[in-house]
Amino acid sequence: MFGKRSSVGDSASSRIAAAIAPAKSVAPNRESQQFNPATQGSSASGAPASSPAAQRLAAPPPPPPPPVRARSESFYTNKSTVFGAMLEAIDLAALAKVAPATAREEIREIVNEIFSIKNIVMSLSDQEDLLEDICNDVLGFGPLEPLLARDDIADIMVNGAEKTFIEVGGKIQLTNIRFRDNTQLMNICQRIVSMVGRRVDEASPICDARLLDGSRVNVIAPPLAIDGACLTIRKFKKDKLTLDQLQSFGAISKSGAELLKIIGRVRCNILISGGTGSGKTTLLNCMTNYIDADERIITCEDAAELQLQQAHVVRLETRPPSLEGSGAITMRDLVKNCLRMRPERIIVGEVRGPEAFDLLQAMNTGHDGSMGTLHANSPREALARLESMITMGGFALPVRTIREMVVSSVDIIIQAMRMRDGSRRITHITEVMGMEGDVVITQDLMVYDVVGEDENGKLIGRHRSTGIGRPRMWERARYYGEEKRLAKALDDSATDD
Ligand SMILES: Nc1ncnc2c1ncn2[C@@H]1O[C@H](COP(=O)(O)OP(=O)(O)O)[C@@H](O)[C@H]1O
Ligand SMILES: [Mg+2]
Repeated sequence: MFGKRSSVGDSASSRIAAAIAPAKSVAPNRESQQFNPATQGSSASGAPASSPAAQRLAAPPPPPPPPVRARSESFYTNKSTVFGAMLEAIDLAALAKVAPATAREEIREIVNEIFSIKNIVMSLSDQEDLLEDICNDVLGFGPLEPLLARDDIADIMVNGAEKTFIEVGGKIQLTNIRFRDNTQLMNICQRIVSMVGRRVDEASPICDARLLDGSRVNVIAPPLAIDGACLTIRKFKKDKLTLDQLQSFGAISKSGAELLKIIGRVRCNILISGGTGSGKTTLLNCMTNYIDADERIITCEDAAELQLQQAHVVRLETRPPSLEGSGAITMRDLVKNCLRMRPERIIVGEVRGPEAFDLLQAMNTGHDGSMGTLHANSPREALARLESMITMGGFALPVRTIREMVVSSVDIIIQAMRMRDGSRRITHITEVMGMEGDVVITQDLMVYDVVGEDENGKLIGRHRSTGIGRPRMWERARYYGEEKRLAKALDDSATDD
């Protein structure tokens, strides 16, 4: 037997009986005090005992969207009793070292014994809930567990112990999950980031990490976060959305999707622009599907999210500075190094700073079909942002030179947007045409028009072509033998949807 104080051969019931029999009151303990019926979120009722925290994050089980069921006062009293009795019979530190599934079984066995010895009357589903709660507290991420187990959640945002929000289907909602106090929250934050060898505390209150399963986690702790630690988890979706799925959600029209496929295929240099969570990375991932299988692709990311299907891919990831503040490898370092690796296409997960310069240079020097995302609210803004990233990067270049560089590098800007009804759409496919005087000229090939709103507040709109018959990429399409397909996509977009 694992994790128990008593020696092997001692039956669980006798141990527990011994622990409980002296009619001492069950000592209140840290874990059991947290259960306030008014505040505690419920976990999946009747869910089978599943693997605990570390494993769950590594391989999220299928979603049991937890019904939020009110719990009675007696549930929490019983939980407190059971928890107290359990602590008497079990060595938590040792339990943490055994395989999670075994630990869960161990807890289940002991909890059942406590039920019978203490004559606790509870419905079966409440018993299961209680067991689940106890396992989560002891082995996992406490109140966060039910949220981590759900696949339909894109982001989890914990703003101090009292408030936890989630994003589901593009909408942010407040949950009824609460932590006992900020200490419990900090402990859980620490437990999460320590899985990847990081630390978060008052001395280093900011931590950005990628978990083993690819989820991205950010923690900012007091005193920087005034109302208690803030934890943000962007959950990793194993199955990235495909262009076909985006089309079925109405994020892009059929001919729009076709246009994007052609753009990827004929090696246009692409910038994907959009706000946070607008679907940039998803779209970038889609675009990489249309790269030929034999091209050498190098990806540079802050936290590896892209899932390229091609055989010849080199994945690079930046590195934050060590606890002592040294050893950081920036995006710029990666992109510069990339150029020495004989790439055919360079893909930058997110362009935020001076690496913009190196990416443009790469695009300009024979690495056609390179791609990156950046944070901007329109194609025009994306161009301005690119320019300011280069200026702020300390390159002493006249503005006109920077613009010329942009124009000769970037072919297409794709704009993604999270609309006010929560839907995510591609709102522009825009070509960079050239310069007129000092001004960069762009031309929209396709745009999304909002025409109204239905009774549920869902936006109604359509993707339409702007009637450009011969885009700037025409010659390029011809070179790749795709001009007929391009002409058809542009034609169709005038009529479809
Ligand atoms: N068109 C879409 N329809 C529905 N959900 C989407 C769409 N595009 C992206 N998503 C989802 O939105 C979330 C954020 O997308 P992501 O690509 O990571 O955004 P960004 O890179 O802009 O921050 C992900 O959970 C993703 O699956
Ligand atoms: Mg992203």
